[in-house]
Amino acid sequence: MLNHDLHHVKKSIAVYPGSFDPITNGHLDIIERATYLFDEVVVLVAVNEAKLNKGLFTPKERARLITESINPEFQQSVRVDVTEGFVATVDVCTNLCARAMIRGLRSVTDFDSEFELAIANMELAPHIETVFMVPQPVNHFISSSKVREILKLRGPDSVAKFIPEAVLKTLKSRESDA
Ligand code: COA
Repeated sequence: MLNHDLHHVKKSIAVYPGSFDPITNGHLDIIERATYLFDEVVVLVAVNEAKLNKGLFTPKERARLITESINPEFQQSVRVDVTEGFVATVDVCTNLCARAMIRGLRSVTDFDSEFELAIANMELAPHIETVFMVPQPVNHFISSSKVREILKLRGPDSVAKFIPEAVLKTLKSRESDA
């Protein structure tokens, strides 16, 4: 028996949580394809405790960059939100009447930690389904930390093919301000 009956909710809503520091083309691929599965996709900039103080952008800047990166044809189905402080992502899902939490699975190395997270979330909120989506092969090896690392070593032009235009523009303007 489920704790929360979502049958009355007509709209199918999914939450796609992550650190998004910064959003990459791999994330964008998942967001856009998720709009074909759900009426509304809420991209949630959330806090991963293990990644605190390692940030390139503030949560608000990450949210702005996600909003600016969404192709106009998908904008109607996507909303961007930021968690305030430490909250359980499943509780945000419940408050939004979301049925699912989307997670990207790039390789077997993602599997253990994603499986653990999915089980923990299932314990906390069995009414929220975790839906795993596989990014397109071209995006399989991209991660936000790889982007941050290459950026440090080689500057914005070297990460251009991994990130949306809005992120590149912001990185370049930061570089010229420095
Ligand atoms: N394309 C490119 N990269 C992808 C990707 C894709 N499609 N999917 C995942 N990644 C990468 C990310 O860039 C990130 O890389 P990084 O480690 O180099 O930064 C990594 O895979 C996983 O990051 P992400 O998907 O952003 O998740 P996260 O592990 O940073 O965040 C939270 C996890 C924030 C969703 C999770 O910690 C959370 O829900 N926290 C709130 C508290 C909570 O509810 N905890 C769970 C209950 S125990």
